[in-house]
Amino acid sequence: MSKIDTSLRTVLISIGLMILFVSNIPAKKNPAIGSSGHNIYMDRCGACHGENGKGNGPAVGSLKNVPADLTLLAKRNGGVFPEEWLRKVVGGEEEVDITAHGSREIPIWGQLFHAKNAADQYFANTRFGDLVTYLESIQEPID
Ligand code: HEC
Repeated sequence: MSKIDTSLRTVLISIGLMILFVSNIPAKKNPAIGSSGHNIYMDRCGACHGENGKGNGPAVGSLKNVPADLTLLAKRNGGVFPEEWLRKVVGGEEEVDITAHGSREIPIWGQLFHAKNAADQYFANTRFGDLVTYLESIQEPID
């Protein structure tokens, strides 16, 4: 066997082992915990909506209205997770009157989901998508 054959074989075996290893990583119980969306949520929503999304965050006492229970979004929308509506409420597509969130121009989460220029909007959309994935993962089951 030539030297090239041997190194090619080594490379192929390594790739095979890598695939075997990656495909054997057990799925986590709740894949959203520790995800980018979870981090964004804890950073920008958790103080009011609570660590578990139930609306009982540490800032609640200083608010005029009780923050919504974000685990019931799908249940309260006939079992369908309201992604388009979230785009309006949080994504900055429309002015939505939730005083605690600030305004469309000055939302409490800054330019995180609604950037001032097109280039940054790409990243803002990615962050919003991650947040939506997380929120979807904490929805109460529909019975
Ligand atoms: C400063 C506190 C505060 C922060 C931070 C905050 N919220 Fe809220 N949010 C509220 C309050 C209070 C309400 C209820 C307002 C009302 O009913 O007038 C609310 C309502 C909502 C609603 C509407 C729910 C419904 O059913 O009508 C959504 C969706 C929501 N928040 C999502 C978020 C997300 C996502 C974040 C983080 C990116 C966030 N909020 C950050 C206080 C906050």
